[in-house]
Amino acid sequence: MPIVTSTEMFKRAYKEGYAVGAFNVNNMEIIQGITEAAAECKSPIILQASAGARKYTGPVYMMKLIEAAEAETGLPICVHLDHGEDFEICKSCIDSGFTSVMFDGSKHSFEENIRLTAEVVKYAHDRGVVVEGELGKLAGIEDDVNVSAEDASYTRPDEVEEFVARTGVDSLAIAIGTSHGAFKYKPGQKPQLRFDILEEVSRRLPNFPIVLHGASSVTPEYVAEINANGGNIPDAIGIPEDMLRQAAKSSVCKINIDTDLRLAMTAGVRTHVLNNPANFDPRKYLTAGRDNIRALVTHKIRNVLGSVDKI
Ligand code: G3H
Ligand code: 13P
Ligand code: ZN
Repeated sequence: MPIVTSTEMFKRAYKEGYAVGAFNVNNMEIIQGITEAAAECKSPIILQASAGARKYTGPVYMMKLIEAAEAETGLPICVHLDHGEDFEICKSCIDSGFTSVMFDGSKHSFEENIRLTAEVVKYAHDRGVVVEGELGKLAGIEDDVNVSAEDASYTRPDEVEEFVARTGVDSLAIAIGTSHGAFKYKPGQKPQLRFDILEEVSRRLPNFPIVLHGASSVTPEYVAEINANGGNIPDAIGIPEDMLRQAAKSSVCKINIDTDLRLAMTAGVRTHVLNNPANFDPRKYLTAGRDNIRALVTHKIRNVLGSVDKI
């Protein structure tokens, strides 16, 4: 199977009521853990890299590592830029072989967001690459964009048809109450997703794939391990998995997960290092991190996204 766009993945996900996991990748072990889980589950998968991730690996390594995963597993893999903040980064990813880019114009005015997104869409579509746009602001940290919880604003359903028509985007990320990172809600605040907004957006955009960012559940077992070792992450502050399951059955075709991967990888490495203080072979502790990534992604595919046996 080649490196593919998300077009066919989303068509089927929309029709059959599941979502494709978009997992953030930063190194070889993370890519291996994710793709081994997806291959085992026969699940389509999106590997997404932020500008920071691509800078960390270097653009050539990023693409080659993903190509290696595709060759090893035979999976159809969509390679996506997460939170592209300008035309240049989107162009650079498209030119290096990415099949999908997100232009995140959510910090701009509605008009400016449309103008900038449409420029990326033109460049991308001329080269067979698909584009995700964003309307509304998530609370939390989006690459270099800092948005405090107070500033977070839900997507306005009355804007979505015009945005999609004038930009030509292939999918749309919306803000309905998710947020990035491990600290999603204030103490005492209950996770709440605005399914009413999602429904209204879906009604206005029939057969159109919607994207949820900030969808980590802050997996309790990994949080517990980190807190037992001096971490300070409050319990149960992620997006409850039953809410994600509900979203995956709707027009939401792509669900973004990064923080849960970070927690899993770090917990695996730390446990190994603490239990084996004399070990200094990186392969051993990185194997523990990769094993946790594989277990986490298998769980998400089977119990949250519903994308098992969809290739
Ligand atoms: O939403 C952002 C992702 O979690 C990527 O984060 O820019 O630290 O790689 P990053
Ligand atoms: P989390 O921080 O909830 O994992 O969100 C990741 C994300 O939206 C990447 O774009
Ligand atoms: Zn995001």
